[in-house]
Amino acid sequence: MIAIPNVLSAQQLAAIHSKINQEQWVDGRTTGGQQANSVKNNQQLPTDSAIVRELEDFVLSVLAQNPVFISAALPLKIFPPMINRYGIGETYGVHVDNAIRVPPGTGARIRTDLSATLFLSDPDSYDGGELMVEDHFSTQPVKLAAGDLILYPSTSLHQVTPVTKGERISMVFWLQSMIRDNEQRKMLFDLDQSVQSLTAIHGHEAKDVMRLSGIYHNLIREWADT
Ligand code: NI
Repeated sequence: MIAIPNVLSAQQLAAIHSKINQEQWVDGRTTGGQQANSVKNNQQLPTDSAIVRELEDFVLSVLAQNPVFISAALPLKIFPPMINRYGIGETYGVHVDNAIRVPPGTGARIRTDLSATLFLSDPDSYDGGELMVEDHFSTQPVKLAAGDLILYPSTSLHQVTPVTKGERISMVFWLQSMIRDNEQRKMLFDLDQSVQSLTAIHGHEAKDVMRLSGIYHNLIREWADT
């Protein structure tokens, strides 16, 4: 699980909220899988709205420029983000995300390797509404600052606890990674982070930095779907 801080600036968040405020919310159950829908109780913005599409494109273009997101996710295909809201008493019970998603009107199939939540509400403005992600050993509660993103393996059981005050707005999406295996992807991320920090110290001309960087790219050659 990787948290990526400050994906959006305060100005970008304000612009997004002013667009969201022009839209009407609908029942969130229009987009879940069968198991997920039985425990889903939230609202979302209609996925065919022009404003929602514009916000999706904007956020995806911001993420495409974010080196930590690219390094952590190594995205191949991204399912268009959805914007959802949990008011008081609303929740999304324990579920697993569908393995395959078909973006509406495309016929394309996206295998969900990673799930992402981009927090849009200030965490002090609501109570509850924590994203709980189960890994092998424990359950991690996640409630990040507005503008921060969490990436977690789509294989994890997860839930959003009931909101008890205020409202929680977020953008969620799934992606198929070039690297299907979570362990391989994590090793590549760690290696890339180390190459970045060694480059900052020694410069990328340094022979060992170049060699490590070569290993990173060669591992991607070995493992990546394209
Ligand atoms: Ni989910």
